[in-house]
Amino acid sequence: MEHKKLRDWYAKYGRKDLPWRNTNDPYQIYLSEVMLQQTQVKTVLERFYFPFLERFPTLEALANADLDEVLKLWEGLGYYTRAKNLHKAAKLCAPKLPENYDELLKLPGIGKNTASAICAFAYKQERAVMEANVKRILCRIYALKSPQEEVLRRLALEMLDRKNPFDHNQAMMDIGSMICKVRNPDCQMCPFQAICKADEEGLYDYPEKKRKRVPTRSANVVVRHKHEKFFLKRRDGRFLHGLWGFEVVASLPEGVSKIGEVVQQYTHFKFEATVYCVEADDLYDEYLSYDEIGTIALSGVDKKILALLKKDKLV
Ligand code: ADE
Repeated sequence: MEHKKLRDWYAKYGRKDLPWRNTNDPYQIYLSEVMLQQTQVKTVLERFYFPFLERFPTLEALANADLDEVLKLWEGLGYYTRAKNLHKAAKLCAPKLPENYDELLKLPGIGKNTASAICAFAYKQERAVMEANVKRILCRIYALKSPQEEVLRRLALEMLDRKNPFDHNQAMMDIGSMICKVRNPDCQMCPFQAICKADEEGLYDYPEKKRKRVPTRSANVVVRHKHEKFFLKRRDGRFLHGLWGFEVVASLPEGVSKIGEVVQQYTHFKFEATVYCVEADDLYDEYLSYDEIGTIALSGVDKKILALLKKDKLV
């Protein structure tokens, strides 16, 4: 009953024109799912999906690429571990992505949801995708405040339209983002209205929100410059590994002057940097011009610092 309602809803309102829904190429589907893990459809569609595919049209092309170039195309999408894992996974399995769920799970960056999505979308296997929007739908239908992941997974699988795993999962995602929204859900339009406990109660606070306070990390950044060239380093620690950035210092060198502050919000913390500049005594090889900086992969914070430099007419 609900399967038919869901199918009818998808046929009428589903976002069937999304490019990753109009391909059978597992690589293209995989790429879209990785991009969509932490980024909205609109952003992926407008700025990232097509340029990436144009440059790396196949898994093999990606496997043969230089990580720097992959990171450059990922610049602005954030969560760069995704790009590094994508590249690693391509190297491990090019020219062909595995068709088996357990084999997919062994690849870096592919968790249960991405593996389920690839299986359902590329190989039409009976798998239920459970991203955040889908979890919210399930919590509301069953009035669950803080269910365990395994409970949701079982419910999602019970609900799956096994004959149509592709449309079913795509429809669930669309309902999550278009109808069963966090605020002001549009229940009148929902194919699950008749079975939804939250709608019956007139309450939508499922799942229960856990307010988490994220810590702030502060740092001092020093921009060393000479003749409109700037010193940047490739990060080799865990944080933003592989991306380029201005220098974070433990103690300020002499002669610096403050040029401003930048703030960047990450999932687990807020990053606040006080930015200083200092003229270097000499011009070293590794100093880069503004144009050269445009060719390397910079993190979001460093882009903001670059904007400060521009504002200060240092570039
Ligand atoms: N988010 C994750 N996968 C998606 C898909 N296939 N379509 C729309 N949004 C998504």
